[in-house]
Amino acid sequence: MSTVVSSKFVVPFLLAALASPLALAEDCAAPQRQQGEQVFARDCAACHSAQKDGPTLMGPNLHDVVGRTPGSVPGANYSQAMKTRQAAWTAQAIGAFIAQPQAAVPGTYMPYAGLPDAGERQSVTCFLAGLK
Ligand code: HEC
Repeated sequence: MSTVVSSKFVVPFLLAALASPLALAEDCAAPQRQQGEQVFARDCAACHSAQKDGPTLMGPNLHDVVGRTPGSVPGANYSQAMKTRQAAWTAQAIGAFIAQPQAAVPGTYMPYAGLPDAGERQSVTCFLAGLK
């Protein structure tokens, strides 16, 4: 009990202190990553490999995408919109992108309607953030 209470205080405190793109990953429990892997298989894997050194399919390989510059996988067919984005992908930015791809990155080539469930978005970004 006391462990649970203290971790609830310590974790957000650490996250605030870190304030890094990886903060969300620190907040990801193993079951959430597993759920994210399933969401990825269902909604993303037709167009994206998440395996290390995996291929680019219709979309770029997403292994280690958190922290990566958008539009930077060699050989992937990116939109101008994606190629000109500067800020490295964070879990939060990926969450916003997959919620409404065209709204988040107008002109994107990603033909995905969006993932409406916030819990599923969080779990899939947890899954991606855990792939190092
Ligand atoms: C129908 C195919 C398709 C599906 C389904 C799809 N994507 Fe994509 N994705 C793409 C394409 C194509 C691009 C390149 C977009 C561009 O250049 O504008 C892309 C780009 C991305 C990028 C940017 C990668 C980079 O290198 O900058 C991320 C992140 C991403 N997708 C995540 C996801 C996630 C997570 C899902 C599932 C929730 C998903 N995508 C579903 C085709 C798809």
